[in-house]
Amino acid sequence: MAKIPLCVIGCGGMGHRHILAYRELENSGIGNIEIVAVCDLNPKNADLGAREVERLFGKKPMVFTDLDKMLARSDIAAVDVVTDPAYHHAVAIPALKAGKHAIVEKPLGLTVRACQAMIAAARENKVVLATAENLRRDPPNRLARSVLDHGLLDVPYLMIHNALGGDDQIIITPWRHLKDKGAIGLDMAVHYTDIVQYYMGDFDQIYGCGLIVEPIRRKPDNHGLDLESYRERYKTFPDQLQATGEDSVLAMYKMKSGAWVQFSYVGAGRGSGEFERSVHGRKAAMWAPGDRNGRPVSLRLGRGKELQGADILSLLPNFQMTEITNRLFDQKVVYELPFPPIDAKHMAIEFHDFGEAVLKGGTPEVDGHLGMTAVAAILGAYESAVAGRAVSMEEILSGKVRAYQEDIDVALGL
Ligand SMILES: NC(=O)c1ccc[n+]([C@@H]2O[C@H](COP(=O)([O-])OP(=O)(O)OC[C@H]3O[C@@H](n4cnc5c(N)ncnc54)[C@H](O)[C@@H]3O)[C@@H](O)[C@H]2O)c1
Repeated sequence: MAKIPLCVIGCGGMGHRHILAYRELENSGIGNIEIVAVCDLNPKNADLGAREVERLFGKKPMVFTDLDKMLARSDIAAVDVVTDPAYHHAVAIPALKAGKHAIVEKPLGLTVRACQAMIAAARENKVVLATAENLRRDPPNRLARSVLDHGLLDVPYLMIHNALGGDDQIIITPWRHLKDKGAIGLDMAVHYTDIVQYYMGDFDQIYGCGLIVEPIRRKPDNHGLDLESYRERYKTFPDQLQATGEDSVLAMYKMKSGAWVQFSYVGAGRGSGEFERSVHGRKAAMWAPGDRNGRPVSLRLGRGKELQGADILSLLPNFQMTEITNRLFDQKVVYELPFPPIDAKHMAIEFHDFGEAVLKGGTPEVDGHLGMTAVAAILGAYESAVAGRAVSMEEILSGKVRAYQEDIDVALGL
């Protein structure tokens, strides 16, 4: 297989961003995946996706509205699951069982059971399962991780991760406010728990809660997203809806390393885009700029000494980024670009990594297990509030603690 023939399943807002990212992957000169098909239950979205593929690649893909018909095709080797998260497992499991390799958007599944069912299907059918987690691919995050690997902070004892903002409007789609469809507390904060595990290693103990700060969500005045599939659905949004799923998560995490993480994601705050990501050790502290903005990492060495961005590289003899990252970001750890190309480049990197795992028989950087632990770290905070105590990651992964997830599993048929 020179290039892996792949079907994009789910041609909503993010499906379109994925298609743009496959173009970016191709532009890198080392593309390893070809979109040969698109699939969406909604024929309008399937058609929009197909037109976008044709516009960008000059070749019309096969178009499916029926998953089984697509899975029966032996000339499709892999699938990219970009449906809303409540359906990730329902789509990925039959695909994995049909012998297709799968990359699945975050959150990998809505519950630990959903994630485990996907992981088991991949293992039993000897195919690759990757989680499409894009934020860690950002060069400033690669630099931050290297600062930690080089021990420039000494042993980190604390990470602070706070993101606040979001107001009372419907965030992108109504399903992002419904517990059994993948509410924003999980949908967004799972990116940040992945960053926590990327920087700090494995989770151990979890104490926290989920909140519905804004129970009534209102139709946004201006949707602000320039994608036809979102625009079409915006017309069908209710004027307001009752949220049933968390828009916020607060947690203290104890990591296996012994370090603590103070974590909050509030997708309803009246602040606008308040953000902090910092890691503290006895020798230095590091402030990371957040994701998809290209701003510099800052390393504060004490007594007023500070290094920023590329200047930190002089202290990192082993720093390296992957070939595709260097190609797409011109070897830079600080950059200025508009959002759409940044977004496409990050996803091109994650797709390339998935493609290499398929072609060479390796493990993708964010596999099913890491996709699951990022989800379990959020669900662990919710479970901790129900249990009224701190819970361990082990209890969440073993299913010993799952009271919060029970009704979601029933709704998902798991
Ligand atoms: N990584 C990121 O930065 C990022 C950003 C946005 C969304 N996402 C993720 O992408 C995924 C999709 O989000 P979205 O905003 O595009 O949602 P969306 O609602 O806009 O689109 C989902 C699409 O999937 C289709 N679909 C649903 N069930 C299906 C099925 N069983 N078979 C085929 N098609 C089906 C729907 O018809 C729709 O077209 C979610 O998991 C979300 O968390 C990730």
